[in-house]
Amino acid sequence: MSKGQKLLNWVDARFPLSSMLKEHVLEYYAPKNFNFWYFFGSLALLVLVIQIVTGIFLTMNYKPDGSLNAAGVPVAFASVEYIMRDVAGGWIIRYMHSTGASMFFVVVYLHMFRGLIYGSYKQPRELVWVFGALIFLCLMAEAFMGYLLPWGQMSFWGAQVIVNLFGSIPVIGPDLSVWIRGDFVVSDATLNRFFALHVIAVPLVLLALVVAHLIALHEVGSNNPDGVEIKQNKDPVTHRPVDGIPFHPYYTVKDVLGVAVFLIVFSGIVFFLPEMGGYFRNTRTSTEADPLKTPPHIAPVWYFTPFYAILRAIPSFPGTRCGAYWAWVVP
Ligand code: HEM
Repeated sequence: MSKGQKLLNWVDARFPLSSMLKEHVLEYYAPKNFNFWYFFGSLALLVLVIQIVTGIFLTMNYKPDGSLNAAGVPVAFASVEYIMRDVAGGWIIRYMHSTGASMFFVVVYLHMFRGLIYGSYKQPRELVWVFGALIFLCLMAEAFMGYLLPWGQMSFWGAQVIVNLFGSIPVIGPDLSVWIRGDFVVSDATLNRFFALHVIAVPLVLLALVVAHLIALHEVGSNNPDGVEIKQNKDPVTHRPVDGIPFHPYYTVKDVLGVAVFLIVFSGIVFFLPEMGGYFRNTRTSTEADPLKTPPHIAPVWYFTPFYAILRAIPSFPGTRCGAYWAWVVP
């Protein structure tokens, strides 16, 4: 017996490593007919890892501090400029993180679209879908709070608008928005709590939800373009699904292809188009936050635009502060 095998046996006697790997990767039986749409689950996992790793390195040099430095520039804003200009490799880490945020939504929107077209939200996969929907909500919160951190004009005023929206909830609204901000306006207190939530609280919840999402999926089995329920037709001798194939090597190889194509596109954006003409990073995040100067056009990042359009379409009720309009004009 090789030394590696001995070590594995030692671990297996104390922790179910091999059996977990077998159950969830090597011998997880999946339908034979996965198509293009089935690339996006593994790509979402990849982007999650990219965001966590680049986020850890950004945190090493970023400072969540809204006060002004000796040059009169907010410390948080200056620390991001420092990452871009002076930290070795800082620019690529930051562009990977900002591009990763947008690509996360590209991948997750395609992943959700697949679920919709193939009815993957229906019985028996309701919980897979519910965990997915919760992941999506967390992802939106995560992206929103991350956007405030560079403390640019658009970060500041975007946060101002969205937090004010909570103010339009009847009765508790005004107190609720003060509670969220920790102040009467977006301030250093807001920046510090958004930082804490962005780097630790929400990622923890997100990771737990992704684990739950996959456990639920492996319990019921994957859907597929033809809707064949492979768990209902098992070989009487081997007890393996007749219409299924093991995840490894069939889908590990397929997913590697998806990862390769994704990384080519991702690198193209990081190296040549990190701002994507203002869609991935609004150019006005490059001007430091000024609480005394409201920018003429406050626009969210592309992945929030449908929700923003819905909010702005809600009229304000006469004599009240309900509706997105008030979130706009009331500082
Ligand atoms: C961090 C974000 C997410 C990750 C890492 C993730 C990961 C995965 C993975 C690895 C799979 C199996 C491979 C595949 O079927 O593509 C999967 C399946 C699935 N996911 Fe997600 N997912 C995420 C977000 C979502 C969201 C937001 C939804 C919907 C609201 C969703 C709904 C589903 C459904 C319904 C399936 C089963 C699809 C089928 O069998 O046809 N997921 N997910």
